[in-house]
This record gives sequence, C-alpha cells and structure tokens, in this order.
Amino acid sequence: MALKFITAEEAAALVKNDDNVGFSGFTHAGCPKVVPVEIAKRAEAAHAKGEAFKIGVFTGASTGDAIDGALSRAKAIKFRTPYQTNKDMRTALNRNEFDFFDLHLSQLAQEIRYGFLGKINVAIVEACEVTEKGEIVPTTGVGITPTICRMADIVIVELNKSVPQKLRGIHDLYELQDPPKRREIPIYEVQNRIGLDYVKVNPEKIFVVETDRDGDGGGFAPLDEVTSRIGHNVAEFFVAEMKAGRIPAHFLPIQSGVGNIANAVLASMGSNPEIPRFEVYTEVIQDAVIDMMQQGNISFASGCSLTVSNEVLHKFYDDLAFFKNKLVLRPSEISNNPGLARRLGIIALNTAIEVDIFGSVNSTHVNGTNMMNGIGGSGDFTRNSYLSIFLTPSTAKGGAISCIVPKVTHEDHTEHSVKIIVSEYGVADLRGKGPKNRAIEIIEKCAHPDYRPLLHEYMNRGVKGHLPQDIYACFAFHQALKETGSMINTDFSKYQKP
Ligand code: COA
Repeated sequence: MALKFITAEEAAALVKNDDNVGFSGFTHAGCPKVVPVEIAKRAEAAHAKGEAFKIGVFTGASTGDAIDGALSRAKAIKFRTPYQTNKDMRTALNRNEFDFFDLHLSQLAQEIRYGFLGKINVAIVEACEVTEKGEIVPTTGVGITPTICRMADIVIVELNKSVPQKLRGIHDLYELQDPPKRREIPIYEVQNRIGLDYVKVNPEKIFVVETDRDGDGGGFAPLDEVTSRIGHNVAEFFVAEMKAGRIPAHFLPIQSGVGNIANAVLASMGSNPEIPRFEVYTEVIQDAVIDMMQQGNISFASGCSLTVSNEVLHKFYDDLAFFKNKLVLRPSEISNNPGLARRLGIIALNTAIEVDIFGSVNSTHVNGTNMMNGIGGSGDFTRNSYLSIFLTPSTAKGGAISCIVPKVTHEDHTEHSVKIIVSEYGVADLRGKGPKNRAIEIIEKCAHPDYRPLLHEYMNRGVKGHLPQDIYACFAFHQALKETGSMINTDFSKYQKP
C-alpha cells in the first residue's frame, strides 16, 4: 500500500494528551529530530489555553535536545525512562516535575512487553529507508525501536534524507521472546548476526515525515593529564593481566562507557603496542572506536548506536563499504544483554561519580540526592562481565571533592560486582580481597594523596566487625563539603566514637 506522507505538525497532532510515546535512538544517535519539537509546541499551546498536555517518554537511552530538552522546557512530560543526559531535563526531574524511572537499559524493551509500564500508544522513529511493505531501516541508533514499532498503534517515521540509504545492512534487529518461550540468543561471537536489517510493521499504521536534519553529535574534549593517566593505567593493567594469563593473548571484547574518560582509555589501548587487535561489544560506539577500526586496532565493533561527533559520522558514511562487515548496530536488549556479557567474557569499563573504600560505586546521584544521568548500561555490564572496571578521577571540582569516599551516598554497583578501580594514581585490584584489604588497596592506589590520611583515619576509628563502616561518621566527607565547601576539611573528632 502507498505510504502516507504528512508534515511534522500533522504528525504531532496524532499524539494525544496522556499518550505513552516510544522514540527510536540511543543517545543523540538515531533519535527523531522534528516531530518531538512540534509535540513540544503543541504542549505549550495547550498549556497556554489552560488545557492538559503531557506524555510518557520511552527511549533507548538519552536523546538529543529535540526530545528531552524541548519536551522538558515545554513541561510536556508526565513520565520518563530509562536514562537522560540533558541539562534541562535533569533540572526538571530533580525538581520532581515528572516521574523519572531509572532502569537498566537492557530491561526496558522487555518491561514494555511484560506490560509493567503501560501501553505504548505511538512510536516515533528515525529511518533512512521505509518501504510500502512496512520495512523500516533505522539510522545510527537502535535502542528499543523493534519493540515500540511492533507494539504501538501508530508508527511515525522521520525519514531522514541526510542519512545515506546505503546504511541498510549495518543493523541486526532481533527481538527476544518472552518467558516461558525465551530461548538462548544465538550470538556466540561478537560478529554474529541473528536478525533482520529492518523492522517490519503493518504499513497501515505508518505515517512518514520527511526531514534532512544532520546529527547533533558534539566532539570530545581533548585528552587532559588526568584522563590520559587513567587511560595509561588501564592499558598497563591489561598488559600485566595478559602476561599473567588472566586475559587471553587474543584479548576479550571491550565494553566502554560514555564520555571523555572512556574515549581516552580506548585511545590509550590503541597506542599501546603490547595490546593486540581487539573487538568491541558495547552499547555506544564513540569516536575512538571508529578511528581505531580504520587504524586496524579494533577488528569488529558491535553496539547499539554510533555516538560519534558529526565529523567522525561523515568519515564513517564516506567509508561505509569498509565498515559494513566490521560493525553492527543492535537493539539495547541485545547490545546490553547480561547473558551475552557473561558468555562473551566482556571486559566492562565504566565511569563512576564516586566509589567507596570498600568497593561500592555510585554512578547516578550526586550527594545521594540529585540525579546526574541514570544507571544506563553500567549495571547490565558490571554485574555480568568477565572483568568489571570502574574509572574515576581521584578528585572533582578542583580537589574540593574526593571521588574516593568512606561510603557512597547512593549505591548502584555493590562490592560484589566491582573488580577493579582505576584513577590517575593507579589501579586497585579488589579480586579476592575482604573489606579491610580492599580499603587499603583503594586508598593507597587510587585516592588523591591529600585525602589518603583522612581515609586512613576513618578506617582506624576502631569499628569492630567484618566491614568497619562507622555509621556515625560515614558521610563526614559529604557533610564537610556541604558545610565548608571542601571534603578536605573533614573533622572526624566531632563524631561520636563507634
Ligand atoms: N561529586 C559531585 N560531582 C561530581 C563528582 C562527585 N563525586 N564526580 C564528578 N562530578 C561532576 C564533575 O565535576 C562534572 O561536573 P561538571 O559537568 O559540572 O564539570 C560531572 O560530575 C561529570 O563528571 P565527569 O568527570 O566529566 O564524568 P563523565 O562525563 O565521564 O560522567 C558519569 C561520569 C558517572 C556521570 C557518567 O559516566 C554516567 O552517567 N554514568 C552512568 C551511566 C553509565 O555508566 N553508562 C555507561 C554504560 S555503557
């Protein structure tokens, strides 16, 4: 049947107050760019007339400003899951303007299917191709696209003409069966393909909006001394692990988190001649991965999105023939699948907000209160990897904050899952160590030298028991920060003796 072409404004009119809307993409990559802005305008117009207009927003992960920014500013959101990185959205959710449900990214598609989160009324997806048979080819990010397209009553396709149609073939789209019919996922090696290169939906429910918007990928910060020292420490650690026979000579697939530190670590691995060519099984494929594939340091990359700068994206499009058989984009329930992380033996590299001396990690809440971004995929990988590594600078805010604290103010990853912590000062190896030895290792190897005496003082407060956590003084660092502006002013003498 002939496809129905409509304007972005007409598409926005198909979304009703209180609808749950699923958006394609993962980070800014693959997200719709024009229809959500029109929905925001609709919300503002409705609010001006005193009418209610709010929607539930479901995505693979974070999005571009056209979704999270525009809809937050328009106060058009009633519910949001599973992850965000937008400044305006962060402000709004920390004011509790809407309910934000922070969820492991691998779980969202199945929680939608299980009916835990209500019905998805409308799916809005970016595509580089859509056919009259109802075949939709996503662009550079997948996320929850197959599930929302199948489950929504209406599918609005933003057909983005700035993305080359020859991208078709880069995706591997596969949806899990739900229990009790679920079977093993037949991926045994990073490069295995198990699905289709398009999503198939009933063409009758498709509406097409043509666009030509370029991606909004910003660049990465240049390496600074701290990030390059963290990268160097990780690379040296890997070399030592290979020599000790704990990482095989052909290496294991790498998952690397979002942001500058992860990008810097990959670059350090690439420049270390003792690290062999390796594969990547991750959620976000960042700039460094594309560069390293072209240089021959990475042989294959499997991910959920191409979260790259615009410059690198165009380099990728120009060399698509090279990348077509070396890179695959999968839905988030496959890219982040815990069973596959365990089966493939992934080495997980994620960044922390703060870690404590016993090995627990806070990835999400500043001072235990304000949401930064969300847990993202860090839990999917950390709990299930061959080796779970957390990276953190030893301090933040010019030294006023120690990122190594007596106790984390919010716990996303427990000491049971975290194996290695790396700062610019060194590598703490927590494997096989009880709480006291973990604390000594983390303080001596990772904490900033200025904070080491305070952390030792905390350890020596005389708490008895297996884990010497002092319930009176465990947040003394955070209290000092709040009262004096710096954790360095921590005064343990003012706390009751344990
Ligand atoms: N207390 C308060 N603020 C802190 C802090 C701490 N202990 N540690 C860092 N910060 C601040 C930094 O100063 C910075 O603030 P700024 O933006 O005002 O400069 C901000 O937090 C980000 O820190 P940065 O060092 O730039 O780290 P990042 O960009 O690498 O992000 C996380 C770190 C933890 C926020 C980010 O990795 C994240 O959201 N992780 C959870 C999801 C995840 O791991 N996904 C990957 C799975 S593939």
